[in-house]
Amino acid sequence: MLKLCITYSVLVFLALKAAHSALVETVTTSLIQGVLGNSNKSNIVFSPLLLQDGLKQLYIGAEGNTSAELENLLQYNGGYSLLSSYQGVQLPENVELNIASRLFVAKNVTVLKDYQENIKRLFNSTVEFVDFKDSAKASTIINSWVANQTRDKIPKLIEKTEASDVMMLLSAIYFKGLWAKPFDSKLTEKREFYSLDDEGKNKTIKVDTMYKRDLYRSHEIQELDARTIEIPYANTTVSMVILLPNQIDGIDLLVKNLESLHVDELLRKDVVPSKIALQLPKFKFDLSIELKPMLQELGVKELFKAANLTKITAAPVSVGSVFQKAVIEVDEKGATAAAAQVITATAVSVDTAKDFHVNRPFVFVITDFDKVYFAGRVGNPT
Ligand SMILES: *[C@@H]1O[C@H](CO)[C@@H](O)[C@H](O)[C@H]1NC(C)=O
Ligand SMILES: *[C@@H]1O[C@H](CO)[C@@H](O)[C@H](O)[C@H]1NC(C)=O
Ligand SMILES: *[C@@H]1O[C@H](CO)[C@@H](O)[C@H](O)[C@H]1NC(C)=O
Ligand SMILES: *[C@@H]1O[C@H](CO)[C@@H](O)[C@H](O)[C@H]1NC(C)=O
Ligand SMILES: *[C@@H]1O[C@H](CO)[C@@H](O)[C@H](O)[C@H]1NC(C)=O
Ligand SMILES: *[C@@H]1O[C@H](CO)[C@@H](O)[C@H](O)[C@H]1NC(C)=O
Ligand SMILES: *[C@@H]1O[C@H](CO)[C@@H](O)[C@H](O)[C@H]1NC(C)=O
Ligand SMILES: *[C@@H]1O[C@H](CO)[C@@H](O)[C@H](O)[C@H]1NC(C)=O
Repeated sequence: MLKLCITYSVLVFLALKAAHSALVETVTTSLIQGVLGNSNKSNIVFSPLLLQDGLKQLYIGAEGNTSAELENLLQYNGGYSLLSSYQGVQLPENVELNIASRLFVAKNVTVLKDYQENIKRLFNSTVEFVDFKDSAKASTIINSWVANQTRDKIPKLIEKTEASDVMMLLSAIYFKGLWAKPFDSKLTEKREFYSLDDEGKNKTIKVDTMYKRDLYRSHEIQELDARTIEIPYANTTVSMVILLPNQIDGIDLLVKNLESLHVDELLRKDVVPSKIALQLPKFKFDLSIELKPMLQELGVKELFKAANLTKITAAPVSVGSVFQKAVIEVDEKGATAAAAQVITATAVSVDTAKDFHVNRPFVFVITDFDKVYFAGRVGNPT
């Protein structure tokens, strides 16, 4: 059976959405734009949800200019109190989703009681004291926690700890969904992909490409000169949405304009599913990414110098790094025997299907149209 295990962090985000719908969506897409636009890696994957959760956990412990800068980035504008409670949210069903947080703190540092209570209540997070001087032991404790929360998909997050470390705010997310309409692996074959390497050079490569002819929602987004396709997971509100540039070399323009996109526009309720011949490459990669430069560019500065986190601890601190490691794997799988029969039934069809050939660099998001769990760019699917 698929298991659903979720922490309060998602509830908080939904509470924010209810209060400031459009604003929160803009935060998400501007963070996605910030990450994709500031990295020249051809393949990128990260979790906007984790980034926002981590920043919120800092925000409720911040004062002065540190607080103002985070408030500005998160677009709270003093209008919404993160500390108010929220109830009655529908969570996505039938996908495996685990989101967790923990604050690892040096043994000789005191964390204020109020802060401990707040992160417990809002993020289901707890404080665990470790000896950062004993790098081998502390790293093992932290990496084991991450490995467990990610079902071993990320076995090692940190290399070592330093004696000068004061605290580490850990967050983890694990997601697994089965396609509502699985791909038939017999129809997967090598097809051309106009890839982009890390130097931005064009190269046509052959990649394993899945094929399915079925009904999908797809629409044009003019500002991005791109088309979307929604590929739903089974029995849930969660989907993967692909943004495919109309031009072979349109990925940069698409990423540059992402900021103006609202998460709402990814799914237009008025779009009726239509018959589409979908070619989608299989892909699997991981990425380690330092998000500090992007956050500095977005105006979060004091946090990285002399942070005012006086609502967490009196110890003088500065944040040295905001590091994410993420993995993604997209394939035909998840298909049960019953699901495979569905494929066979739909693979042969009439000729009216529109083509949607994902044969050039594209952007993807995994979303339930409230929250964006993962986002990324694929320039080279091999
Ligand atoms: C809160 O976290 C604990 C582990 O620290 C976990 O066992 C529990 O299921 C979580 N609660 C929710 C509501 O996710
Ligand atoms: C943090 O900000 C508060 C409120 O502005 C201020 O009173 C305090 O002196 C600041 N502390 C540090 C360490 O900057
Ligand atoms: C906040 O920043 C402003 C402008 O840089 C500065 O004048 C002010 O002293 C800072 N306030 C605190 C509490 O650090
Ligand atoms: C905690 O211990 C570390 C390493 O011994 C030391 O550098 C740091 O100053 C101590 N912090 C506090 C708040 O005592
Ligand atoms: C691993 O995670 C599961 C579920 O979140 C939890 O029940 C278990 O205690 C954890 N194990 C360790 C060794 O942390
Ligand atoms: C990629 O980006 C980094 C940092 O922005 C830069 O130092 C590097 O030169 C870039 N590499 C290429 C090949 O453009
Ligand atoms: C890549 O190929 C496209 C289409 O053939 C072309 O328009 C574009 O200028 C090329 N870009 C580079 C960087 O070579
Ligand atoms: C989705 O729900 C239907 C009806 O309950 C069930 O037959 C099917 O197996 C489910 N699919 C998945 C992948 O869980």
